Amino acid sequence: MIHGLKTLRLAAALLLGGGIVHAETPLPLIPMPAEARSMPGTLAIGTHTVIAFAPGDTAAEAAATYFAAELRRSRGLALTVSASAHAPRGAIVFATEPTNPVDAREGYTLDVDGNGVRVAARDGAGLFYGAVTLWQLASADGRQGDTAITDVAIRDWPRFAWRGLMLDVVRHFQSVAEVKQAIDAMAEHKLNVLHWHLSDDQGWRIEIKRYPNLTAIGGWRTPPGAGTHGEPDRYGGFYTQRQIRDVVAYAAARHITVVPELDMPGHAQAAVAAYPDIVGVNGDRPAVSVDWGVNPYLYNVDEKSFTFIEHVLDEVMALFPSTYIHLGGDEAVKDQWKDSRAVQAKMTSLNIASENALQSWFTDRLGDYLGKHGRRLIGWDEILEGGLPRTASVMSWRGVQGAIDAARQDHDVVLAPAGWMYFDNHQSDRADEPSGRLSVLPLERVYGFEPVDASLTPEQARHVLGTEATLWSELLPSERHVQHALFPRLDAMAEVAWSPVEVRDWKGFLQRLPAQMRRYAALDIAASDTAFAPAIHLDDTVPAMLDSGKATVRLDNQTGFGTLRYTTDGSMPTVASSAYSAPFTVSLPATVRAIAIAPDGTPLAAVRSRIVDRDHLLTRRNGEFMKCPDGGLGLRLPLLPDLGDMAATTYDVDLFHSCWLYPKAPLDGVSRVRVEAARLARNYGLAHEQSKVVSYPSKTPNGELEIHQDTCAGPLLASLPLPPGKALGERFVLDGDLARASGQHDLCMRVTAPIDGPLYGLGSVKLLAPNDPQSRTTPPDVVPAHAETQRPHSRSPQ
Ligand code: ACM
Repeated sequence: MIHGLKTLRLAAALLLGGGIVHAETPLPLIPMPAEARSMPGTLAIGTHTVIAFAPGDTAAEAAATYFAAELRRSRGLALTVSASAHAPRGAIVFATEPTNPVDAREGYTLDVDGNGVRVAARDGAGLFYGAVTLWQLASADGRQGDTAITDVAIRDWPRFAWRGLMLDVVRHFQSVAEVKQAIDAMAEHKLNVLHWHLSDDQGWRIEIKRYPNLTAIGGWRTPPGAGTHGEPDRYGGFYTQRQIRDVVAYAAARHITVVPELDMPGHAQAAVAAYPDIVGVNGDRPAVSVDWGVNPYLYNVDEKSFTFIEHVLDEVMALFPSTYIHLGGDEAVKDQWKDSRAVQAKMTSLNIASENALQSWFTDRLGDYLGKHGRRLIGWDEILEGGLPRTASVMSWRGVQGAIDAARQDHDVVLAPAGWMYFDNHQSDRADEPSGRLSVLPLERVYGFEPVDASLTPEQARHVLGTEATLWSELLPSERHVQHALFPRLDAMAEVAWSPVEVRDWKGFLQRLPAQMRRYAALDIAASDTAFAPAIHLDDTVPAMLDSGKATVRLDNQTGFGTLRYTTDGSMPTVASSAYSAPFTVSLPATVRAIAIAPDGTPLAAVRSRIVDRDHLLTRRNGEFMKCPDGGLGLRLPLLPDLGDMAATTYDVDLFHSCWLYPKAPLDGVSRVRVEAARLARNYGLAHEQSKVVSYPSKTPNGELEIHQDTCAGPLLASLPLPPGKALGERFVLDGDLARASGQHDLCMRVTAPIDGPLYGLGSVKLLAPNDPQSRTTPPDVVPAHAETQRPHSRSPQ
């Protein structure tokens, strides 16, 4: 047996910036194989290389064909795949091998030596994952054309059977091509379950022939600000059954099972909008929702409703061969059931004591229906609340307790806890993160997730099927947003899902990431560089910097990985620029620019810049404010909900408290304030949490932006009336006097507009002295434009 891949290294000689850099780099594989050994020697792969499989070995042919296609896609290298009993020396051979030493399902062996490459496995999935590993070896340099791979011996198999990714195509739709891109990425990470969230309050995305209104009506919504500022007149889309079959087949060819989710009994508004008389509870005829969050609409529990759901499930089962069908079950606030006499009468007749128990009964009945058709139900952990339906498996999202409880009750579980696996959370508190949730889920935290809770017995632990990352898409309105949220956190997740605990190693993972970032660049995937992006800190107080005309600059990045190189003269930093080792001083005005470079010379992050001058020292922009003490639910929003431009201004809001803190504002000599603000949609269903929203009395018809000294209860320094009008997406400038104060003070900035009206966001707040020009807008101090900061520059061709 072979042990200890962590310590194995292959020497890489990389040509960079005109010089040759020799660096020790680890085997460029993610997820890390169970066992691997690298050896001296390399094998050339080029147009001459033959890819072969034995005639009739269809699994080997499929894996060989996939490998060839990946090689062509990533490095433009087109190799011949051929059936041949006797492959020539130097060939890449794929072979099904019933006696392969790796006898775990989906496992494989991969050997590279002077004779060539041999990928072998007992099953087709194993051969496929061998092909993925081989492709990773052959694409690690991110370049085009011929390559060479290191000699290795790998024995590999997955830790978990369920290695999932959830795509929410309801809140923001993804085309078939985009879904296939996600499938491609899943395959390249050895993930095998695509959980496809196809229905919710904001849309119904799967054609059901028997109920055409589900898509004709339920597939479309009229969004806030429709038709203005680039917001579409209507938003939506759906997949025809033909498209669904195509996606399922595309996934199956990559050993990925598609598990469809139809969310019920809650998150039902689009279905109710389409068929209010069949599935609605109370006769309401709502439109498809434009509110994110928790909406009140539930499926009815009468026979009409069940017949409808069963008909829908019949068509769903015909399209998806998956054993599991996901029926949601999350966030079903029960008000409509509580208020319905018919539902209450049904509960009485069934001797059901609570609405939660009614949800269990509802889920159990549908679980039985699926069971009769040879399928199984999986649902979010709320299905535990009224007693776990007999046949159900549980997907734990509100932490890990749901998984623990279900496993103890002998039910299978999948771990998708929000605190580790919800990729709509931001990756850092950087101001240049795109729209998303302001709670931070860094790469390292994903990497550190352990799906099997230590409290489970070995018997209970066997119920842990695996883990899943989710991409709720309210704040991911474009494919670029999706890619930024997914990568490279999906790499961390893949290693959690695949690799044995013994080979997981955060430091080693970081060493292997540059190769992955090069692959992303080669494939034009806009992976986030957040984990490496230089942060440019100023360590002196603003008054001290203005007094002395000097600033102490400190650089760091989130992971501490890579070398930070910088310039202070406005020029673009390169691998030859000064390497940062300790804080340094600049004289104002200055422009500091920085990049991060991996030990092997790969650029890890796009250039970040900061202008240090009086104008910028007296201005704070969105993302640089802090939250007020009573804060609750922080989001970074686009101007309107469906605008997909990553480079556009975003606005941080707290749904429960329209308040921001400007920390340590330098108020000496300041007499005015200039605020760039925007009127945003308040499109959130908060259900029973609505009462948490803080409101303040207003003095003018549209409310004000109030600025208080020190705390929100402190002296009122300014009260800037908000402009008339209700048009969403409108931007405006508030310019007014600020009561004189001296020294540095936190400023509480809060909005007194009615909480049943729009939200407001702040683009920037600028402090002005009496003789400062009033109308100038300070350009952002983060340049180049945001869009350019999303991915490392690819290496220049040699
Ligand atoms: C969920 O995040 N509501 C499952």
